[in-house]
Amino acid sequence: MTALVEKLNWDSDFFGFNIARLNRSRITDADMKRVLQFCKKNKIRCLFYRAPADDGKIVDLAEQYGFHFSNFRVTYMLETDMGYRPAKIGKANFILRQCRKMDLPELSRISKNLYTASRFYFDKHFSRKACDQLYIQWMKNLGSGKKDHGIYVLADKKKIAGYIGYKQTAAGISLTLIGVNRKFQGQGIGKIMLTEFLNEMRKQGFDKFEVVTEGRNIVSQRLYQGAGFRITASAIDYHKWF
Ligand SMILES: CC(C)(COP(=O)(O)OP(=O)(O)OC[C@H]1O[C@@H](n2cnc3c(N)ncnc32)[C@H](O)[C@@H]1OP(=O)(O)O)[C@@H](O)C(=O)NCCC(=O)NCCS
Repeated sequence: MTALVEKLNWDSDFFGFNIARLNRSRITDADMKRVLQFCKKNKIRCLFYRAPADDGKIVDLAEQYGFHFSNFRVTYMLETDMGYRPAKIGKANFILRQCRKMDLPELSRISKNLYTASRFYFDKHFSRKACDQLYIQWMKNLGSGKKDHGIYVLADKKKIAGYIGYKQTAAGISLTLIGVNRKFQGQGIGKIMLTEFLNEMRKQGFDKFEVVTEGRNIVSQRLYQGAGFRITASAIDYHKWF
């Protein structure tokens, strides 16, 4: 059985202070007291808690215990097979291709300060520099060429317009990290890239897709909704600082 609370070793090493996660969604006052004891004993500085958004009592409890709102998290899914629809690339000669190792420095530059809607950038306790590094590290992990995950880029011969990182799960494909170079945002590149990516994955036999984004991220939600994704879940991400 999963522990009620656990220290996150990777996150603690990465940020340089102890971070823990509350693993149960619907918690009680007694659970909370046990969790706080654990945090004290393990010198935890930041505690993550993903709470159900539809339970007023739990929201009250989290606030009573000094948890700070960091994100309203929304999950979208696409399950229909809409068949192969070629994307309109327009004037640019961008094509979707798999990421190469030599693309990673450019992807790191593009991703810098891009995820300002995320709970890490939103919570000012995390330094901007550490947040940038977090996404770069995430990108490197995704681009490491393992079989069940990877990155596709939308690029021409000279530059990369955007990228989609993904992971294969039991349910299908989870889109994990999506970004469009700031210079190209708001010009339909995200739509083209997502359409091309879904077409590519469908050709490979996948027909179920999931993506999580922030309630505050209107552009990404419009992007996913436009491609046919429907909302399936929501939760509140809290951070408690000690
Ligand atoms: C989210 C992101 C990938 C979208 O790519 P994009 O190329 O900018 O988006 P597009 O131009 O293809 O537009 C997608 C939709 O958003 C809308 N949109 C684009 N810019 C917008 C803006 N500034 N305000 C409101 N809506 C906007 C478009 O109209 C379109 O919706 P529609 O089909 O209903 O017209 C890109 O903006 C980005 O990299 N953002 C920062 C990183 C991020 O948030 N990633 C997603 C994390 S889950």
